[in-house]
Amino acid sequence: MSNAIVVYRSHSGVTRRYGEAIAAHLVARGVDARVVSVGECDMSTLAGADYLLLGCWTSGMFVVLQHPDEPWLAFVRDMPALAGGASPRTALFTTYKLRTGTQFPRMRAALAGKALPPALELKSRDGRLSPADERALDEFIA
Ligand SMILES: Cc1cc2nc3c(=O)[nH]c(=O)nc-3n(C[C@H](O)[C@H](O)[C@H](O)COP(=O)(O)O)c2cc1C
Repeated sequence: MSNAIVVYRSHSGVTRRYGEAIAAHLVARGVDARVVSVGECDMSTLAGADYLLLGCWTSGMFVVLQHPDEPWLAFVRDMPALAGGASPRTALFTTYKLRTGTQFPRMRAALAGKALPPALELKSRDGRLSPADERALDEFIA
């Protein structure tokens, strides 16, 4: 059985719910998926994962200057480098209200050299998984 770790940073709960919905979908597809916040994550478990899904809420000026927040950036800085041979397939996710703008580019830049370039980016305004998200996750684990 393949396994996934879904790590989220949430300010008011929406990104946590999105992470939980992502993990529930993976479990329904037969993947052993666990959800943890950036503060709870045991870094030593990351290298053994087949899939690593990293999420953070979008902060910024609503139309410009979006970025992941400092606790998410600190988590990525502290992560061991996972970019070697058996490194996990990686995805990013975020929740937002108006536009994600520079959020994914900033997340990708922070992750560069630490993990494989993300194969998937998911976003949601309400923390629910859309049918398109479900199809994209199915392709991600195929
Ligand atoms: C200080 C602050 C800045 C925000 N900046 C943006 C933004 O630039 N673009 C956007 O679409 N949403 C923005 N939002 C909305 C949040 O990204 C959105 O409500 C998100 O779902 C919150 O996730 P959480 O409940 O996991 O913390 C902002 C919210 C706050 C509190």
